[in-house]
Amino acid sequence: AKVDVVGVPMDLGADRRGVDMGPSAIRYARLKESLERLGIEVTDHGNLRVPVPESATEAEADAKYYPIIKAVCDELAGIVEGVVRAGGFPLVLGGDHSIAMGTIAGVARARGRAPGVIWVDAHGDINTPLTSPSGNVHGMPVHFALQEHAVDPARMAFIGLRDVDEGEKKIIRELGVKAFTMADVDRLGMSGVVAEALAIVADGEHSVHVSFDMDGVDPQEAPGVGTPVRGGITYREAHLLMEGVAASGTLGSLEITEINPILDRENQTAILAVELILSALGKTTL
Ligand code: ARG
Ligand code: MN
Ligand code: MN
Ligand code: MN
Repeated sequence: AKVDVVGVPMDLGADRRGVDMGPSAIRYARLKESLERLGIEVTDHGNLRVPVPESATEAEADAKYYPIIKAVCDELAGIVEGVVRAGGFPLVLGGDHSIAMGTIAGVARARGRAPGVIWVDAHGDINTPLTSPSGNVHGMPVHFALQEHAVDPARMAFIGLRDVDEGEKKIIRELGVKAFTMADVDRLGMSGVVAEALAIVADGEHSVHVSFDMDGVDPQEAPGVGTPVRGGITYREAHLLMEGVAASGTLGSLEITEINPILDRENQTAILAVELILSALGKTTL
């Protein structure tokens, strides 16, 4: 197996500074060595160049940096498209969750259709610029991906939701997007949730993209995130989720977002991210 790593040190989509250091933290947590120990061949494409907010114009800042974020996402989409066309597996390291617009667009272009998407998150990230209470673009990537037809609402599932804005609830209901909230995880168990989610999103080998916001995991396990919300996915549930995805044989691309090393404790959120990446790529105990 082969994996193509792409880092996107983006923090323009969020209020709290620091998620731009996520790619470094994940690499520092021994991503490459750990993957290689699994027998995976790793090509690290390095980081995209992302402008810092201090270099933005007033107009760009007023637009919540959307023009800059969009330009970086377009570049990311091109890289991801190339990786998929070459038969590789894109592993994208964020950065705030706005980068999913680029990753998913690239996969969709390379495959000629929208991938099934499992969106692991405390949040819906489906605000429009009009419904968003914050204006932050990391709360809108699902909206923009749907708009570009890079995501098919019928082949998408949220897992882990527990902080959804009023406007988002309405959008999720109207589009009929399948959403497994934490209450659903409590009731069905994570193994049931993953099975149901895969039944909705997967329809063949490499048909599924997992967009994993580390704030989907409980802050006790993943304290290094900008927008923590209590009552999240446990350590074991997170692994079970990724192991279920791996066992399905349908994973085609993966991204890890929203790690904020400034708020972390001894890099434990990045270390967990590496563990979860390994589970998603087939690591098992025996
Ligand atoms: N729903 C809130 C907003 O729109 C929070 C979004 C948090 N998103 C994230 N990717 N952490 O601002
Ligand atoms: Mn989130
Ligand atoms: Mn395969
Ligand atoms: Mn998110």
